[in-house]
Amino acid sequence: MKSIQLQETGGIETLHQEGVPRPEPGRDEYLVRVHAAGINPLDWLICRGMLPHLLDTDLPWIPGWDVSGVIESVGTNVTEFDPGDAVCGMSRLPGAGGAFAEYTTMSDDEITAKPDSLSHEEAAAVPMAGQTAFHALYNEGGLNTGEALFVHAAAGGVGHMAVQFASHTGARVIGTASGRNEEILRDLGVDEFVNYREERFEDVLDGVDFVLDAVGGDVLERSIEIVQPGGVVVTLPEPPSQEAVRRYQDENNADVRFFDVIMDSDPVTLQQVAAHVEAGVVTPRVSDVYPLSEVQDALDRSAEGHVRGKLVVNLSEATDD
Ligand SMILES: NC(=O)c1ccc[n+]([C@@H]2O[C@H](COP(=O)([O-])OP(=O)(O)OC[C@H]3O[C@@H](n4cnc5c(N)ncnc54)[C@H](OP(=O)(O)O)[C@@H]3O)[C@@H](O)[C@H]2O)c1
Repeated sequence: MKSIQLQETGGIETLHQEGVPRPEPGRDEYLVRVHAAGINPLDWLICRGMLPHLLDTDLPWIPGWDVSGVIESVGTNVTEFDPGDAVCGMSRLPGAGGAFAEYTTMSDDEITAKPDSLSHEEAAAVPMAGQTAFHALYNEGGLNTGEALFVHAAAGGVGHMAVQFASHTGARVIGTASGRNEEILRDLGVDEFVNYREERFEDVLDGVDFVLDAVGGDVLERSIEIVQPGGVVVTLPEPPSQEAVRRYQDENNADVRFFDVIMDSDPVTLQQVAAHVEAGVVTPRVSDVYPLSEVQDALDRSAEGHVRGKLVVNLSEATDD
């Protein structure tokens, strides 16, 4: 089968296409014919060697974690899906995901039925970003109707799904992005838009109940200023130090939390996200689709930090040779 192999960490340029044997599903796994694979910042962070603790497999291996495809065959111990069923999900983390290949193996815990309303390309955009948005808003932050939610990077993979979830919940949604994304964000449910290139959000906002920080760095620090006492900040890029979390609590009465999709993704959330997609609450926006041979370009583009919605790799045209 065609696959993308990572030869060594430290450079996306070490990725290259190679024919390898199809993987064999274990007794507790399915063999999935991958039709599309989603791109996430985690992909290039791992391939560039920036998250070494997430590599538990000897190189070379096949990266890619978000999958939409069709069950090809089933191990003897799994019964939830049959050959021919369309599924989507997020493959094992930490470790080699295997999504950038025509076939990969996945377990029951990692997949759910693909929403009928979505193409494979759209479905591959959902698992990691959708689970992160859902967990961060509801499990970590406990978002409620009527609360003011401020979403940084609202036009990105996580942000554009968070905006749709929160709008459905009846929150007042404020989103940051550059000006080119204002219209689409208003379409998705943003009530108030802040162009981060033209104004500093702390100059125009105050008394926010909840901040979803998908940018990090000084954006986290500055967000503390606009949270009302007792409010919540869920940050995604990296865990803040315990000292900083204590200081935010003591000085600002702000509850700052880090959410980690690697530790906290679970089949129930994946199913809940898929159900919301099927119900039309959340629709993933795919801004560009790449062939398998151009995975490296897709990862470079993601690393630039200005993707609108999601990037996806299409493998449905690839032929098994
Ligand atoms: N902790 C976890 O479990 C977890 C899970 C998933 C993701 N993450 C992290 O969460 C972050 C977001 O992930 P993602 O998939 O949503 O990323 P993404 O899709 O690559 O985000 C791209 C978006 O960021 C916006 N952006 C860039 N700089 C900005 C700024 N200073 N202020 C506001 N918006 C800005 C861009 O909008 P413009 O083009 O308009 O600038 C673009 O739409 C990443 O750091 C990722 O690693 C963490």
